[in-house]
Amino acid sequence: MKNNHLLPFKPFALLVLLLCITSYSYSQKPDYRYEVESLLSEMTLDEKIGQMNQLNFEGLNDELLQKVKRGEVGSLLNVTDTEVINILQKAAIENGNGIPLVIARDVIHGYKTIFPIPLGQAASFDPEVARIGACVAAAEASEHGIRWTFAPMIDIARDARWGRIAESLGEDPFLSALMGAAMVRGFQGEDLSLPNNIAACAKHFVGYGAAEGGRDYNSTSITPLALRNTYLPPFQKAIDEGVATVMTSFNDNDGIPTSGNSYLLKDVLRQEMEFRGVVVSDWNSVGEMITHGFAADGKDAAMLSANAGLDMEMNTELYVTHLKQLVQEGKVSVADIDNSVRYILQMKFRLGLFSNPYVKIKKTSVVYTDAHLQAAKEAALKSAILLKNENNTLPLKETQKIAVFGPMADAPYDQLGTWIFDGEANHTVTPIGALKSDKAYENIKFTYETALSPSLKDADVAVVFLGEESKLSGEASSLSDINLRGTQSALLKEIKATGKPVVLVIMAGRPLTIERDLPYADAVLYNFHPGTMGGPAILDLLFGRANPSGKLPVTFVREVGQIPLYYNHNNTGRPAPDNARTLNADTKDVKQTSVGDVSHYLDSGKGPLFPFGFGLSYSRFEYSELSLSSPTISMNDSLIVSVTLRNTSNIDGVEIAQLYVRDLVGSIIRPVKELKGFQRVSLNAGETKIVTFTLFSDDLAFYGIDLIRKAEPGFFDVWIGGDSKTSPDKKRFELK
Ligand code: BGC
Repeated sequence: MKNNHLLPFKPFALLVLLLCITSYSYSQKPDYRYEVESLLSEMTLDEKIGQMNQLNFEGLNDELLQKVKRGEVGSLLNVTDTEVINILQKAAIENGNGIPLVIARDVIHGYKTIFPIPLGQAASFDPEVARIGACVAAAEASEHGIRWTFAPMIDIARDARWGRIAESLGEDPFLSALMGAAMVRGFQGEDLSLPNNIAACAKHFVGYGAAEGGRDYNSTSITPLALRNTYLPPFQKAIDEGVATVMTSFNDNDGIPTSGNSYLLKDVLRQEMEFRGVVVSDWNSVGEMITHGFAADGKDAAMLSANAGLDMEMNTELYVTHLKQLVQEGKVSVADIDNSVRYILQMKFRLGLFSNPYVKIKKTSVVYTDAHLQAAKEAALKSAILLKNENNTLPLKETQKIAVFGPMADAPYDQLGTWIFDGEANHTVTPIGALKSDKAYENIKFTYETALSPSLKDADVAVVFLGEESKLSGEASSLSDINLRGTQSALLKEIKATGKPVVLVIMAGRPLTIERDLPYADAVLYNFHPGTMGGPAILDLLFGRANPSGKLPVTFVREVGQIPLYYNHNNTGRPAPDNARTLNADTKDVKQTSVGDVSHYLDSGKGPLFPFGFGLSYSRFEYSELSLSSPTISMNDSLIVSVTLRNTSNIDGVEIAQLYVRDLVGSIIRPVKELKGFQRVSLNAGETKIVTFTLFSDDLAFYGIDLIRKAEPGFFDVWIGGDSKTSPDKKRFELK
């Protein structure tokens, strides 16, 4: 199978993409200690407090200019007009105290060129997809003066009702950590002072995705061990990668909102995790501590956050209003304020803002260059997941006449997904848009109807595009019903009734409950909202110009009532066997007994619809001969785990081989499986490769009963397979 989807590169675009192609390891040096300390020593208390204030831009007016000139603003978010940015920057530098503003905005999965939503990028199991996506976003956003983004969102998300699962990297700490760190590298580059690099923000610290009932902003009850074993690892990885900033979350954990939680911010984030960048609040999250019932009023809220170590307050201006008085009353220390200002100034030095504060208007824009569009298409190709393919319905032949149906076939705005402040629907290439006007598909015969029509009679196959509007996922877009909405399932059923083969293509912001729809589709290609280039990417996959390789970064449940259901759960004392009793005609008369009762739902069985890590290909892969370099591993040593991977089909493809372990007995129960490694392996038709992973004893470490991170001696099982469930073989080794 050949990659025919390469577009010609323009030389300038190629140069831009080359910037994104280099890999490196990020260094925090220089730390600008001398510059920061000398500037700090000259600043008044008012100026220091001003640096801790981040305002939302609501238009250029005299009031704002005066505030900037008086040094009452350290950062602005949501200003994208470069001329306005330069006017404001001039007010700060030439007419104010000389300290530049840092301009921030949510650039989540692209600025103008939109990549698949983060959940989709995670499905690629390819950190390079995430890094290049972030690098492209940084190049486009910085052209508009933005030097700080509030991404990546690395909240572990195990509840598909939560709308922000779309913005997450899925349910697994290991995958989220690697993809999140890659985004940090992509946004920040090797040298943050280069004008096309922007500061990243690991968010939301912490546990925001564990909202009770999947309802956004809701409380969480994360225990100290779960915090360290599940929710903190992606943040630690981002910190190790040099992430410039961290955002506090809206939620309270166990009754304490993070924005006022000095244990979490000082003891955990600063001391345990050694974060040395800026901690910014979420939008209004300082003020919202009043609504929570944690702060009495704005002054109390400002005091709680400042004492907790929150450096910059977003939007509510409680710091500028109250901190000075709080210092005078001895309720907030100048030492704490100095520390916050140090971090803020250091970020501004690292961004090179003191030497290059103004946005330089570029002669040639990098926005929507061919290289960027091509990278977005590549990401969409790698992010699509083939969930079902009966009778080899896919790939379609280019000679087949296709009848296209469904609302997502030509939904330029919704295809982009959530959080695209700057994305433009008129640049989206939908499947129908590509079929109509992209030369690459000019020979494909298709009809397109929003409802059933007689045209289906002449077609060889129906391709039905269903899913979710983008506004149904993302912030404050939680759902209690995650079925396909409206008449979509009915349309699919009706099309299937015609007897034609049916290909279902879904574009959605979350894993929907599609069990009831599966019987009406011969093949299913699932796309988490795929972005600007989703259309051509999907067509290439449907017609076999490219081969699907994505794997699920989240478990697909059968019914919403199974949530939370994730692969790396603990074992109960009564795990359900595969043949566990379910509600059906045979069991309706069964009497209650305490024998044989197991942990599952009577009505939806014990397992998921599709497990974490699952995804098919047009190729067929076979795993065999799992082997270990040794039956034991010593502390601070490593073990080689290898497997033979065969492409038994006559189609070239890529398989994501996944390594899972289980620690059989621990000081606390260890999950039934934990992902510890993955590789994208390219295999030509008929090719065999030995895939090897090096497992270090440190990979087996976790926070145990004593809250200390270490690997505990004992036995471990290890698997390598194509998903978290169906590995054919396992091996056991001992950690000594
Ligand atoms: C979101 C953040 C976002 C911020 C600024 C909040 O509502 O929770 O993730 O960065 O707004 O737009």
